[in-house]
Parts: sequence; C-alpha cells; structure tokens
Amino acid sequence: MSLQYQFPSDFWWGSAASAAQTEGSHNGTTGRTIWDEWFEKEENRFFEGVGPKETSDFYNRYKEDIKNMKEIGHNTFRMSISWARLIPGGEGEVNEEAVTFYNAVIDELLAQGIEPFVNLFHFDMPIEMQEKGGWENREVIDAYVTYAQKAFELFADRVSKWFTFNEPIVPVEGGYLYDFHYPNIVDAKKAFQVAYHTIIAHAKVVELYHQNYDGKIGIILNLTPSYPRSENPADLKAAHICDLFFNRSFLDPVVKGEFPEDLIALLKEYDHLPETAEEDSVLLKENTVDILGVNYYQPRRVKAKDHAPNTEGPFMPDWFFDNYEMPGRKMNVYRGWEIYEKGIYDIMINLKDNYGNIESFISENGMGVQDEQRFIKEGRIEDDYRIDFIKEHLKWLHRAIEEGANVKGYHLWTFMDNWSWMNAYKNRYGFFSVNLDTQERTAKKSAYWFADVSKQNGFDH
Ligand code: NOJ
Repeated sequence: MSLQYQFPSDFWWGSAASAAQTEGSHNGTTGRTIWDEWFEKEENRFFEGVGPKETSDFYNRYKEDIKNMKEIGHNTFRMSISWARLIPGGEGEVNEEAVTFYNAVIDELLAQGIEPFVNLFHFDMPIEMQEKGGWENREVIDAYVTYAQKAFELFADRVSKWFTFNEPIVPVEGGYLYDFHYPNIVDAKKAFQVAYHTIIAHAKVVELYHQNYDGKIGIILNLTPSYPRSENPADLKAAHICDLFFNRSFLDPVVKGEFPEDLIALLKEYDHLPETAEEDSVLLKENTVDILGVNYYQPRRVKAKDHAPNTEGPFMPDWFFDNYEMPGRKMNVYRGWEIYEKGIYDIMINLKDNYGNIESFISENGMGVQDEQRFIKEGRIEDDYRIDFIKEHLKWLHRAIEEGANVKGYHLWTFMDNWSWMNAYKNRYGFFSVNLDTQERTAKKSAYWFADVSKQNGFDH
C-alpha cells in the first residue's frame, strides 16, 4: 500500500556539507583560504571567536560519519572539494595528500552505497587568488578552470554529479555589498563584475566537463521567492527587482544561457554593467546546466524603499527588503528566519513553467537552532521542530512533483552540526549533534525519523 506522501522511486535522500565547514583547516596539508585570513585579521567578528580550524573533524572521522549516513538511509551526499586543499595557492602542483583524502571519502561513500555529489567551490577562495582580485580578475577564472579540470581527471571516474558553485550570489552579497564575507568591500559595480565573472567561470567549467565526460554537471543556487509586501505598484516593482538580482541574475544565464533583459536595463540605468568579453554570450548560450540544485530556507518579503522604515537600506535606490517586520508570519523562533514551506513549491513550479522543467533537487533546506542542547532528553536531542520543518517542506515538494515538477531529491543542510562561517556554531542544523570537546556524534530524533522516511521513500501524514 502506498503512503500518503510517496516519493518517486530512486528519489535522492541525503544531506549536504562543505569542505571548509567540516574538514578543519588545520588538518592535513592544505593551502589557506579567505576564511583563515579573515579570521586572523578580525577574530572578534566570528561568533565566540571560533574560526575555520574548529570544525567537526570530518577529515579524520569521515568513515564513522559515512557509516552514520548509511544508517540513516542516505543514498546520496553532497560534499565539496577545497580548491586550496587540492591545489594550495590555487595554481600549480596538486597536493597528493588531498588526493588521498578525497579518494578515500569518495570510495567510502561508494562502498556504503551512497552516491557522492561533488561541488567545486563553496565560498572558499584560496587567499592567493583573492589577493589577485578574486572573481574581479578574469585570470582567476583560468586558474579555477584548471583546478576543475584536475578534479575531473582525478575523481570523475567515480563521481558523475558535479556542481560548479554553491550559492554564488552569497560571496557577491557578502563580500561586495553587505560586508559579511571577505574581502569586505562595499561597491555595487564590483559586485556585479564578481557575479558576472563567476558565471563565466561556471560556463567554462560546464563546457570543459561536457567535452570530456558524460555525467551531469550543474550549479547550486539559493533561490528566494520574492513576494511583494502589498499590491502597491512600488512594492511589486521592488519585488521584481529583488527577484532579478538575487535569483535570476544566476538562474537565467545558467539554465537559459542569457541574462534577463530587465536586469541588463536596470544595471545600465545605474551604470553598473560589468565588463564583458565578446565570446561570452556564445559561451553562456552553449553551456547550460544538466541539473540544478536548489537551496531553500526562506523567502524575501519585499517593500519599496520609498515607504520603508530604513531609507538608507541596501544599495538600490528604489527598493528595500527585510525579513523581520511582517506580522502573522511563521518564524523559526530558535534562529529568527521565517518559515514558509510553500516557497519550496513556488520555486519548483516556477522551474517547471519557466525554466524548461530542468532536472532539479533540493540541495539544501534546514533549520538552524540556537542552544540546541536545551532539547536534550536522556542523552538525545529531541528535535521535533526539525521533523515538523522537514515534513512540511516535503509535503509541498511532493505536491510540486505530483503537478509535474522534475524534482529528483531532497538533501538536508546538514548531516552533522558544523562550523557556519561568521556564525561558527551558533545555529545547529545537523541530523547528528557534535560535542565539540570530544567530537562525539549523537543522532538526534530527526535522524531516526529521516531514516524511516528514506527507507520507505515517503511518509504518511
Ligand atoms: C547555505 C550555505 O550553503 C551553507 O554553507 C550554510 O552554512 C547554510 N546555508 C546555513 O546557513
């Protein structure tokens, strides 16, 4: 008998993590990234002064972690390779110790029947590349393509799902607009140049992969549905601009091979058009993705700046958004983000209707919780709130699939509590909790629940 929420056979159940957040930048031989540099310069900006060395030690404990993944029914897992670990300095010799490590992880996953999805860049620019200007500099694109080529040569015999970037808009926002990532520049023109070069780097790697391999390659985007706060035309326009900037700036070129006309017009109006090269438009047109990972946490509720409380808000003169002032919304009270489960459905229906029903999956969704230890009962975190969160999102995802959306899987962020950039360990997201003193892993209640769901390929109620 089938379950009320029965998912398609071969559905991907799993979770996602990233190199910088789990490996520990003191483990093994590795180059330095912007995170090591920034932490040295401004330790006080990191929650409780905890930096990129203090991660959950996946580098040494990957076997135990992968065994745990198997136990809770994972058939897929997304990891990332650290560019700085594989090629310290970003260019030149491959680090054999890193090759041994990533080979071991990939082989262990395969041995446990878990398909590795491998992402090449998760916010972790080698510092030497950043010193050259990072994505502002087209030369860094060439170095990145060479790194990708190496990774394919080394691992593509066993990995057939590749991703070029995770949430590429985030380093643009954080590093060049809102000062929450290194290099802490606030300059909209540079931000658009960085975004543009990231997209070109992506397309070049897609081209390289398609020329030489037959697996699938895509990108992971954080899509944030932009809902206007009212029917006021100014709010509608602001929501549209928000969507153009935060979603479609990447979504359109990677899936359709071109930028939205409205976005180009907007950038022209503010004199923010990036520098381009002649060959770029053909490159983009010919190198669209095979698969799209969607990270979804919360939507944006958009209000035009002219009737917003803070007129000094973000960079665009005529729009504004924030997430904390609309009454009646369901909030994650343990962290402060809105919970809007239907957003996941809206995204998938949009992909179906307007993006050729591109093959996709939820590559991240999850619930961060502060002071999660308070929910421990008899040694285990009883995270019913997380079960509820996942379940309600899955119901909407199921509905999108029933209506024809081409959704292949669901990955939680994240497998075990991990270091989260400036927030360090403030918000815990894992199926497993990690005791940072002993590194002991303990399954939370949600891990057992998810094991049942993945084994049955669905759930009732
Ligand atoms: C998105 C990012 O990919 C990941 O690095 C981060 O830790 C989670 N969201 C949680 O904020």
